[in-house]
Amino acid sequence: MANDASAVFDTLSPAVSKGSLADPFTPPADSSLWRKNFLLGAATASYQIEGAVNEDGRLPSIWDTFSAIPGKVLAGDTGAVACDHYHRWEADVEMLASLGLEGYRLSIAWPRVMDAAGAPNRKGIDFYKRLLNRLKEKGITTFVTLYHWDLPQHLEDRGGWLNRDTAYRFADYADLMSCELAGTVDAWATLNEPWCSAYLGYGNGHHAPGLANDRFATQAMHHLLLAHGLAVPVLRANDPASQKGIVANIGRGTANSDSAADQRAAHLFEVQHNAWILDPLLKGSYPQDLFELWPGTEPLVLDGDMETISAPLDFLGINYYFRTNVASDGAHGFRDVPLEGVERTQMGWEVYPDGLRDLLTGFKETYHNLPPIYITENGMASDDEVTDGRVEDTQRISFLRRHLAAVDQAIKAGVDIRGYFLWSLMDNFEWAFGYERRFGVVHVDYSTQKRTIKRSAELVEKFLQERKAKA
Ligand code: FCB
Repeated sequence: MANDASAVFDTLSPAVSKGSLADPFTPPADSSLWRKNFLLGAATASYQIEGAVNEDGRLPSIWDTFSAIPGKVLAGDTGAVACDHYHRWEADVEMLASLGLEGYRLSIAWPRVMDAAGAPNRKGIDFYKRLLNRLKEKGITTFVTLYHWDLPQHLEDRGGWLNRDTAYRFADYADLMSCELAGTVDAWATLNEPWCSAYLGYGNGHHAPGLANDRFATQAMHHLLLAHGLAVPVLRANDPASQKGIVANIGRGTANSDSAADQRAAHLFEVQHNAWILDPLLKGSYPQDLFELWPGTEPLVLDGDMETISAPLDFLGINYYFRTNVASDGAHGFRDVPLEGVERTQMGWEVYPDGLRDLLTGFKETYHNLPPIYITENGMASDDEVTDGRVEDTQRISFLRRHLAAVDQAIKAGVDIRGYFLWSLMDNFEWAFGYERRFGVVHVDYSTQKRTIKRSAELVEKFLQERKAKA
C-alpha cells in the first residue's frame, strides 16, 4: 500500500520527481548535495539500538521503567535487547563504513557511564571509546548526542527534569564525557529534541516518565534548556576543537482555512513546536504566545538563566518529519484536522517535504543569528519485509529524494545547511511504537539480529560513490 501511494505521488507531482526512472534517488546535477563537503550520514540513539540494559554496570533509565509498564509501549516491547548493538557494534560500524556513509550520529547512554553518585563507570565509558575510536579509524565524522531521552532513573526519582538540580547533574555528565572522549568527537549535541522530552514526557505522558501537566512541561523544558546552556561552556573548555550544538525537532503547522482564527491556530502550533525551543536558544526569551496557549504555565526562571541558555552555538541540529494541518479549537488553541487523500507513512505522518524548506527559510528570516544547520534526522517508517534477501523500500527512496530536494531549495534560498543524517541507520526500538515501525535504511530481523541492506541504502551508497568519483 505504502509503495503504491508513493508511485501515485510521483505521477501526480512531476516537479519533485526529477530523478530518472532507472535511479529514483540520485539528486539532479544542479543539486547542492553534490558538494563534496555536504556531509551525508545516518543517525541512531543509545536506547533504541544498544540493548544490554543490565550489563557492565549500566543503571536503569526512565525508558526501562516506562516500557515495563503495561500499555505504555505497543506490544509491550522494551529496549532490553533492541538491535543488540552493544555486542554487535563492530559489525555495525563495518556496515556503516561499507555503505560509504560519511557521518554517524550516535548518543551516549547516561546511565551506562556514571553511577548514582556521579562517579565514572569505566566499562560503560570504554564501550564508547572503542566505538568512537573505530569510527575515527574509518574516517567517519562523529556527531555525539549526550541526551537522547534515557535519563538515569535515580535522577527521575528525585524529580527528573522538574528538578533544577538535574541540569547541574547534566553539566557534570557533559564534563566527564568531554574529558574522556575529547579528540574522537567532531560535534557534540547536548540534547536531542527537548520538545519531546518536555512535552511528551511531562506534558501529555506519551513518553517516559509519563507525566501529564502543561505546567510540568514548561518547567521541564526550562531545566532541559538550562542543562544545555550549562553544558556548552564545559564542552568548549574540555574539547575546544569540536563543534557544540543542540538538536531540535521542528513541526510545520498549516491552517485549515483562510480564517483569521485558523491562521492564528497554525501560528500557535508553530510557537508550541518551534519557537518554544528556538526563541530561548536564539533570542534569550520564551515566546509570550506560548502562555496564551497554556495560560498560567510560565516556568520559574532565575536571574542569568536566559543568558546561559542563549550563549552562541556552533551548529543547530534540525529533525524534521511531517506537517500538521490545524484549525482553531474555538478557545485559546488549535486542533488537528487531518487532511484526506495525502500520502502518509507507516506512522500515519504526512509526507510533506515543502514543510522542511519553508521552516528553514522562515527561521533564517526570524533568527538573525541562526547558526549553521545540520539536518540531524529525517526519514520515514514503512512495514518493510525481506523478500528473497532484498528489501524494496520504494516509498522511502522517494521520500528521501524529495526531502533532499527541499534541503537543496533551502540552501539555494541562502540557508547555511552543512549536512544531513538519515533516520535511521537501522530499524530499531521506536519508543511508544516499539519494534513495529521500521525507520532504518538497514532492515533488522529481531529474532536473529540479521541486518539486511535495504534498496534505499544501496542507492545512497551509489550516489556517494559517484560524488566521490567526481571530486
Ligand atoms: C525522533 C527521535 C528519534 C526517532 C524519530 C522517528 O523524534 O529523535 O529517536 O524516534 O523521531
